Amino acid sequence: MIVLGIESSCDETAVSIVEDGRKVLSSIIASQADLHSLYGGVVPEIASREHAKTITPALKACLNQAGMSLSDIDAFGVTYGPGLIGALIVGVSYAKALAYAQKKPLYAVHHIAGHVSANLIQHKDLEPPFLCLVASGGHSHIVLVEDYTSYKIIAGTRDDAAGEAFDKIARRIGLGYPGGPKIDKEARGANKEAIVFPRSKLSGNSLDFSFSGLKTSALNFINQLEQEARKRGQDPWAIYSRKDFAASYQEAIVSVLVDHTMEAARQYKIDKIAIAGGVAANSSLKETFIWATAKENKTFYHPDPVLCTDNAMMIASLTYFMAQAGMEPSNLNLDAKASLNLNAFAKIA
Ligand code: KG4
Ligand code: ZN
Repeated sequence: MIVLGIESSCDETAVSIVEDGRKVLSSIIASQADLHSLYGGVVPEIASREHAKTITPALKACLNQAGMSLSDIDAFGVTYGPGLIGALIVGVSYAKALAYAQKKPLYAVHHIAGHVSANLIQHKDLEPPFLCLVASGGHSHIVLVEDYTSYKIIAGTRDDAAGEAFDKIARRIGLGYPGGPKIDKEARGANKEAIVFPRSKLSGNSLDFSFSGLKTSALNFINQLEQEARKRGQDPWAIYSRKDFAASYQEAIVSVLVDHTMEAARQYKIDKIAIAGGVAANSSLKETFIWATAKENKTFYHPDPVLCTDNAMMIASLTYFMAQAGMEPSNLNLDAKASLNLNAFAKIA
């Protein structure tokens, strides 16, 4: 089954053709990150306009790369949420028009569930059940993938998402947008134990995440440093190593993500652990998981960075598994949904 997937939920216009859910025949990802970095974050109006401008050239390039025409496509899949509404509408309208013109089914794909499927492309032998940490710009979940289209949510975030925690502090220390990869780079080779930031422990034995306390603590550190710098007439980062700050802050996020996921694996007796979403591209997160899973004899799966951040390969992949599971295609009334809980796709544990 040949699926063409479309993704436009944030600042990447992406189109991909995937065969049988695991074999990528072509993938185009047009990132707008440079445009938005001028403003320190994604500007929704600019994102929508760019998607509208880019989607046709991206589709043409994608078909070209695969050596195919639209008549070769068996089904279409599109991200319908969650994301920026104006950005989503571009992809959804476009996909509806393609499916209608080609008289082929169209599947409405949940963006966060799509992220999980990136692992199925990367690891051809990976089969459910497995546990997946999904950490992106807007979401942090631990998900038990019981079957290809049957998820159980084990934990979520009480406040900020992991990616947001990276982005907000990166902007504050002048690293710009997107913050995750910038902090990742800044932290390389630095001392991650230089500052011990708080790791939030939520009441009960909750596996949920909370990053707001960490963010406040990091902001306090920066404010005090800036005060001191003003007194001395110096640049703050001439007084304290920004690399060590970045490494310590990153470590506080990474250690909580890894600890909670490992604890979930113990509680649910799962030996296969995967990661997904933009934050899964983080080098320290990967290294820490490699070490933690090896220690407990568990198998660790992670997608290449290009499959971690937003792409349409994962959307085309999940479309195939939805079709295989007998899920209903959507009709032409399909609407984009800015907020779409993962519960819409999964059960809650
Ligand atoms: O999945 P994604 O591309 O888009 C959303 O669905 O949100 O995730 C984007 C997020 C951003 O917050 C970005 O800073 C973060 O993923 N990210 C990273 C890295 N690469 C991207 N965070 C930490 N380390 C990275 N290397
Ligand atoms: Zn995403």
